[in-house]
Amino acid sequence: METITLIEHKHIVLAVTGSIASYKAVDLASKLTQAGAIVEVIMTDSAQQFITPLTFESVTGQPVYTHLWKAESNGGLPTHIAHVGLGEQADLLVIVPATANTIAKLAHGLADDLLTVTVLATRCPLLIAPAMDGAMYTHPATRANLQTLIERGVYVIEPEEGRFASGLVGKGRLPDTPVLMGHIRRLLGQRGHLAGQHVVVTAGGTREPLDPVRYISNRSSGKQGYSIAQAALDAGATVTLISSAQHLVAPIGAELVTVNTALEMERTVLEYSTYADVLVMAAAVADFRPSNIAEQKIKKTETQGDTLMVELVRNPDILLEVKAQRQETGFPRVVVGFAAESENLLVNAKSKLDRKGLDLLIANDISASDAGFEVDTNRVLLLSLDEGVKQLELRSKMQVAEAVVERIAVLLEQSN
Ligand code: CTP
Repeated sequence: METITLIEHKHIVLAVTGSIASYKAVDLASKLTQAGAIVEVIMTDSAQQFITPLTFESVTGQPVYTHLWKAESNGGLPTHIAHVGLGEQADLLVIVPATANTIAKLAHGLADDLLTVTVLATRCPLLIAPAMDGAMYTHPATRANLQTLIERGVYVIEPEEGRFASGLVGKGRLPDTPVLMGHIRRLLGQRGHLAGQHVVVTAGGTREPLDPVRYISNRSSGKQGYSIAQAALDAGATVTLISSAQHLVAPIGAELVTVNTALEMERTVLEYSTYADVLVMAAAVADFRPSNIAEQKIKKTETQGDTLMVELVRNPDILLEVKAQRQETGFPRVVVGFAAESENLLVNAKSKLDRKGLDLLIANDISASDAGFEVDTNRVLLLSLDEGVKQLELRSKMQVAEAVVERIAVLLEQSN
């Protein structure tokens, strides 16, 4: 796993309480560490019934804190200042999993162990992920305690529905690590340089139906668009992802609007463009669609000989329509397009920047095997009127996305 810019070098205090879900916190600690965070773990006595401090020490490379009064044998802060010291350094305090007992203590300001004392002594954002049996989670006492915490500004991750260790089914399961990571990114990025901005990103190749079972599409996976949506979320934006991508999980915090065809995408993009601050058209919109969609599956016996003729008609160019709408409304304030080229990259890209009225264009050479469609890396040119052409060497799609989001922030500033 590569480092995550937003998480790298951040001090995260991960407090683990005693639940059968405690073991899942090990994976979270590991992923946060791999993402570049300094992870300091506090364990309650009950957490140690399920898992040992050594496990966390091994994945984080940091001492684990278990006592309010006794010094840790493995180093770390002196015991009398641990609760203040941990909190002071922390950019974020997360309690994963948070039991009903810990939630009740926090709601009432109790301070009888290292975790609860640290929470009271800390002023950084606090995130909790409740995990408990369904009946405990829906009990009026737990509901009221959680409500108190939410009103106090605590970020509460809703547990998932599912099967508990008891065999019962209900709501109270701790979400998996990617979901927890998504929420942590959301909270860490909330005051980023796109805070207060609404960014609309399109992604994936549109699918143009031929009959009820077949469609024409292209090789776009949607990965670059999804990475841009994540980078915009990391920068604190409100994000809408208009997607025709298959099999990708939308980043936590993004509003997902699923579309299939170019015409559906056109309608949705024009609607959001009336008020969005930024539009990033990363989708590979099909330029043509079958002129007729057969109502029934096309049978090979119906075709003449060995050939099947399919007539295609032009789809609208969405960016050209956005350009026209923007001339009337002034929105979106910043419009970003992509160019997928297999030859004459720079010449074709420059002409697209101009013709489509873009503020920024990301051009990629789709003939390279390590860039463009389907792979996780990309090598792109960034073209804009103010900065001319800038080449980004081969890097991950997430790193490309971060560079794009940085440029968007500058362009938004200039548009004020
Ligand atoms: N695009 C669009 N509407 C279309 C086709 C493309 O809005 N019907 C957008 C894409 O989302 C991308 C940009 O236009 O941001 C350029 O897409 P690309 O496929 O490279 O170019 P085309 O406009 O299709 O031009 P050509 O086929 O001549 O390369």
